Amino acid sequence: MKRRDFISIFIKGTGAVIAAVMSIPVVLHSLTPNFTKEENDEWKPLGPVTNYPQGKITPALVKVKEETGSLSSKSVYVWRKSDQDFVVYSRSCTDLGCPLNYDSGSEWFFCPCHGGIFDKEGERRAGPPNKPMWRFKNRVREGILEIDIRSVPAMV
Ligand code: FES
Repeated sequence: MKRRDFISIFIKGTGAVIAAVMSIPVVLHSLTPNFTKEENDEWKPLGPVTNYPQGKITPALVKVKEETGSLSSKSVYVWRKSDQDFVVYSRSCTDLGCPLNYDSGSEWFFCPCHGGIFDKEGERRAGPPNKPMWRFKNRVREGILEIDIRSVPAMV
């Protein structure tokens, strides 16, 4: 083998090794977004599904760890639409975050701050809010209803 050929092969081989090593982070990043998403989820129990009568909207509490490290209770509304179909609303109004009150007679949610009103589906019916009510991602595991508390921006 001529010296010139050897140097050419050596340079190409070294370039290929460097390109392969540099592509490792890109490949790893493209394979891990689902793991990262799971790490950002924070599932909290809302108790047995039997606590929630079918067709009704029921208030519930969830324990949340504050930034200070202390635990506090936040309130949500659970609507069991059918046997395994749940909607869990944040109690925070989507205007400025005041706590919504549910009226079982009209089946609407009322905001005491600026008159925001939402219907049972969480759609705005009156007042300044320009978004529907926040809905938590939810799931049922071994008969326990859970919500991802990071799936909505704020809670009261
Ligand atoms: S905070 Fe609810 S309407 Fe303003």
